[in-house]
Amino acid sequence: MKYNFDEIIDRTGTSATKMESLPKGCPDDALPLWVADMDFACAEPILKALHERIDKKIFGYTMYDTDECLGAVLNWYKKRYGWEEQKENLFFCGGIVSAYAVLLNLLTKEGEGVVIQRPIYYPFTMKANSNGRQIVDSPLIYADGNYTIDFDDLDKKMAEPNNKVLVFCSPHNPAGRVWTEEEIRKVVDICKKYDKWIICDEIHCDLLRCGMTFHPILKVAPDYADRIAVCTAPSKTFNLAGMKTSNIVIHNKELQAAWKELIGGKLSMNGAGTLGLTAMIAAYNEGEEWLEQLKEYLDGNFAYIDAFLKEHLPKAHMVPSEGTYLAWIDFNGYVDGDAEKLEEIMQKKARVALDEGYIFGDAGRGFERINIATPRSVVEDCMDRILKAFKEEKLV
Ligand SMILES: Cc1ncc(COP(=O)(O)O)c(C=O)c1O
Repeated sequence: MKYNFDEIIDRTGTSATKMESLPKGCPDDALPLWVADMDFACAEPILKALHERIDKKIFGYTMYDTDECLGAVLNWYKKRYGWEEQKENLFFCGGIVSAYAVLLNLLTKEGEGVVIQRPIYYPFTMKANSNGRQIVDSPLIYADGNYTIDFDDLDKKMAEPNNKVLVFCSPHNPAGRVWTEEEIRKVVDICKKYDKWIICDEIHCDLLRCGMTFHPILKVAPDYADRIAVCTAPSKTFNLAGMKTSNIVIHNKELQAAWKELIGGKLSMNGAGTLGLTAMIAAYNEGEEWLEQLKEYLDGNFAYIDAFLKEHLPKAHMVPSEGTYLAWIDFNGYVDGDAEKLEEIMQKKARVALDEGYIFGDAGRGFERINIATPRSVVEDCMDRILKAFKEEKLV
């Protein structure tokens, strides 16, 4: 079927975080394009499966480790990426940030270093801090308007005995890079040289620009699988964030046992939500057609913003997006590092609620992250508001 991503769906009355919990300082009528979920209807097969499940009328405890459920996940990995995974390596978690916090607790002790690559998805820092771990930044290199990995710096950081884990975001949020096979191999080789763990967050792996190829880390580096934990989920891909369903891949037998002991034995947090599982199974088994159409639509939104900036705000630069639905825009040509001024303009003058670049680390000062998984008319509204505000401020 042909999906209509232009449809405006009223999210009021759904307690949507994106609308009801705007970033501090935003007026109530700000256009909400911050938190990463989509304003698009879920794929028809997911809605149908949920309706059918609801018609079964009973929502008792539901199992994750069934052939139907694990098979749907593993089959998705295989058909999309040629990644062959085993059932016994899959573990359920209610969310990837939760899984990340659990993994930090299992792989590191208080005070030990967790290496991240800023600008980076800010909960990586928040959860490390709240668990008493020390964040160590190995910043990405930003040159000629795009990002690459600073392998020399990464080598230095991983060589430090106190630094135990690399958190590798693949594809990278917010830089939008889909790492090449060579880049992933080099990252793994550095960690392998010092026998360090990698927590690889692959939540955005399905959301690529058309023509891009995703390389699962465990396919690139099966030789190092024993020191890698991978986090995947249908939540970003299929707009199911509220369904609280993610799949964590762990090969190392000791870590598997420690995971089961903590999540199951100690905390009893291993139960999956009935509807989340229904949605996930339908998404992975039948959601591909919707996803392919979504990707084309997102490409169009990125192209629209790029053209708009080039025509109207030529000193702003959208970092070329290879993956995610998050536009990462450098406004330093207008604000020269004055992130507070940029925030003020976006929130108070343009009335758009975005993720300010500085929350991803200092390297993000003067940037904005715009969630463009929304109908084109909303993207147009956002860009018009920004342009009008920049004109009022006499910046253009
Ligand atoms: C890189 C990354 N990891 C994790 C998450 C959130 O995952 P969850 O909702 O499963 O905790 C996001 C959401 O934006 C993300 O961008």
